[in-house]
Amino acid sequence: MSADLETLLLDYGKLSEQDMLIEELEPLKNMGKRFEEMMMIHKAAIREVRTKLEVLNDEFQVKSKRNPIRYIKHRIKKPESIIEKMHRRGFEMSLDSMVQNLNDIAGVRVVCGYGSDIYDIADMLKKQDDVRVILEKDYIKNPKPNGYRSLHIVVEIPVFFSDRKQFVKVEVQIRTMAMDFWASLEHQLHYKHTGGEYDEIVDELRECAETIHQTDTKMQRIYNRIMKGEDEA
Ligand code: GTP
Ligand code: MG
Repeated sequence: MSADLETLLLDYGKLSEQDMLIEELEPLKNMGKRFEEMMMIHKAAIREVRTKLEVLNDEFQVKSKRNPIRYIKHRIKKPESIIEKMHRRGFEMSLDSMVQNLNDIAGVRVVCGYGSDIYDIADMLKKQDDVRVILEKDYIKNPKPNGYRSLHIVVEIPVFFSDRKQFVKVEVQIRTMAMDFWASLEHQLHYKHTGGEYDEIVDELRECAETIHQTDTKMQRIYNRIMKGEDEA
């Protein structure tokens, strides 16, 4: 069973229709169908979360003439990343285990202008009565040792199909543009060797994270002062 799922995920998309006709592959074919269905369900959940966020942003635009969200990105976890993570965490290799244990098969990243926007958006999303909050990690209040800052919320939302409704988990990462810029550069480091030759870069990146955080804080203060001025005018 475990090896089957792995073969399936690795070969996902590579098996031809003809291969699928071979009887021995029948269990794999069934699993393939279920895997495809699972991915479809997670893609649907991403669309729902994106729509919720876009609606919130539109409402802000109409009410206060501003957009707390600058842009939204999304991604579905690649089969090879699914296998890597399940191995790394020692989870049983089955579709049920995959759905139960992985919180980030569906991922949505929300990039905001100011730090306060992050919490405004997060609170409004969490308050919606069809959204269940499964897990929250605040790496802004508690940055990672490398300097990583971001608010992570794993939510579960209902997705409605022809004959049933299914709750699906989506990992939502919310950060400022500056934090996002930093994270994308830091992410590049993970593709490189970590044999010590990058120690200096790690230190420099940590410094950049601090500078970026200070700048974010300063920009937020300036913004607040301007807005206060507008209120009083
Ligand atoms: P993963 O196995 O990496 O998914 O981590 P996790 O399940 O323990 O969750 P965590 O909240 O730590 O991280 C989830 C996701 O946040 C990662 O997959 C990355 O997209 C992002 N992330 C977390 N830490 C870092 C970091 O140090 N640098 C960058 N660039 N991204 C990070
Ligand atoms: Mg992840």
